[in-house]
Amino acid sequence: MTANSNLPHSPEPYWRVNVQPPSFPALSDDIEVDAAVIGGGITGITTAYLLAKEGLKVALLESDVVVNGTTGHTTAKITAQHDLIYDELIHHFGTEKARAYYQANDEALQVMRQLVQELSIECDFSDEDAFVYTTEEKNASKIEKELHAYEKLGIPGGYVSELPIGLPIHSGIVMKNQAQFNPVKYLIPLVGKIQSMGGQIYEHTRAVDVEDGSPAKVITGDGHKITCKYAVSCSHFPFYEGNGFYFARMHPERSYTVAAKIAKPFPGGMYLSADSPKRSIRYTPMNGEKLILIGGEGHKTGQSKDTMKHYEALKTFGQTDLGLTETLYRWSAQDLFTLDKVPYIGRLTESHPNILVATGFRKWGMAFGTVAAQMIRDSILEKENPYSELFTPSRFKADPGIKTFVAENTNVAGHLIGGKLSTASKKIEELHPDEGAIVSYNGQKGAAYKDENGQVTVVDATCTHLGCEVAWNNGDRTWDCPCHGSRYSVNGDVVEGPADKPLKKLE
Ligand code: FES
Repeated sequence: MTANSNLPHSPEPYWRVNVQPPSFPALSDDIEVDAAVIGGGITGITTAYLLAKEGLKVALLESDVVVNGTTGHTTAKITAQHDLIYDELIHHFGTEKARAYYQANDEALQVMRQLVQELSIECDFSDEDAFVYTTEEKNASKIEKELHAYEKLGIPGGYVSELPIGLPIHSGIVMKNQAQFNPVKYLIPLVGKIQSMGGQIYEHTRAVDVEDGSPAKVITGDGHKITCKYAVSCSHFPFYEGNGFYFARMHPERSYTVAAKIAKPFPGGMYLSADSPKRSIRYTPMNGEKLILIGGEGHKTGQSKDTMKHYEALKTFGQTDLGLTETLYRWSAQDLFTLDKVPYIGRLTESHPNILVATGFRKWGMAFGTVAAQMIRDSILEKENPYSELFTPSRFKADPGIKTFVAENTNVAGHLIGGKLSTASKKIEELHPDEGAIVSYNGQKGAAYKDENGQVTVVDATCTHLGCEVAWNNGDRTWDCPCHGSRYSVNGDVVEGPADKPLKKLE
């Protein structure tokens, strides 16, 4: 980490700095439980906690380490203000469902507030007002429409013509009394509770398949089986699709955060621009000071030629608009977007009554992870949940008639064909230190990375999911697939699914 306005050499989320989550062994045997929960982020941990509290025998499996992934790389706002969404929801789903969307998220925020109090969790939790603003006249009507939606749905908030941080704006809208926190500090005590209630936790254990049935069997990459009455996929992209075609009805995006010191005092509040490119601003306490998190610059995964330029853009915005003096950390996150912007939470498909899924939270996984955990608990306990119809994954089939479905999959098809036709961008000997590129290697296309010591690693450039060609991500030093967002390390190991097999090493 470099303590100046230059960008840090490597990505590192502030949430994990000086906070050491406990570590767990890999699963080394076959086991039998009531519920196998796949994914050690906020959704999986909260689900496992709620189920263990109800007396179920639970196993939590994580392919990497707990509290990393998107949960460890979020901007960690807990809010029902999901950009400008309520006017759109009213038009697509009607007033009742739009209100249900708000209520589900508002209740999740209350549940999290209560948990923090009950368990005395020290996680820098603070109540903050949330603002969406525009600096452009052309976006003012969007703010007005959202304001009407707030009024119609009874959402506490209203119009603002200026922001507490003094950023010049055209207009904005505030949602009162939302919250922010450190997600890693919040989840570590819940992990401890899962254990103390008899839950089993396994890290470095990748679930790759399910043998359907009652009970079901979750299969790990090492061939172990978890026999369970319920399998719950909280693995961001579902680790098992069971003909649900999730890959064809979601798209992944990456976005960026820099954490910096600024010269001006920061009065608090959480901010999001409705303009393009997006800007997100909040603070978190750091050793008696305020560390300012500046986020934004989203794009489809694997579809940006130079990801470092996104960090540069955020730093420049911080310097010009917020008085940024030192950039201490930088990190990026991946988010999944569904066709109608509403998550998929519930049965994987109609024919999978005991396999549940929670995915597609866009950028709002802290509140939605908690919404999903409660819905999954209720589903397993066969309790009514008022939100199950709104979020049911079966509201969408992979329907080629839907406009967004066509757009998403045309984009994927373009990359699938484009990757096959493209030529290598460099020769291995042309690579600079700390550079990756697609090269021609023994008649094959290789994804080659030269490290700072001159050591070159070459892996097959063909994504093991459905065969698109991966692209170099220089900001994170990973190979990212432009089709459905699988990501791999320079050695070819899977960092993020849907792929569950590594890229082949080329000798
Ligand atoms: Fe689907 Fe790469 S082809 S993620």
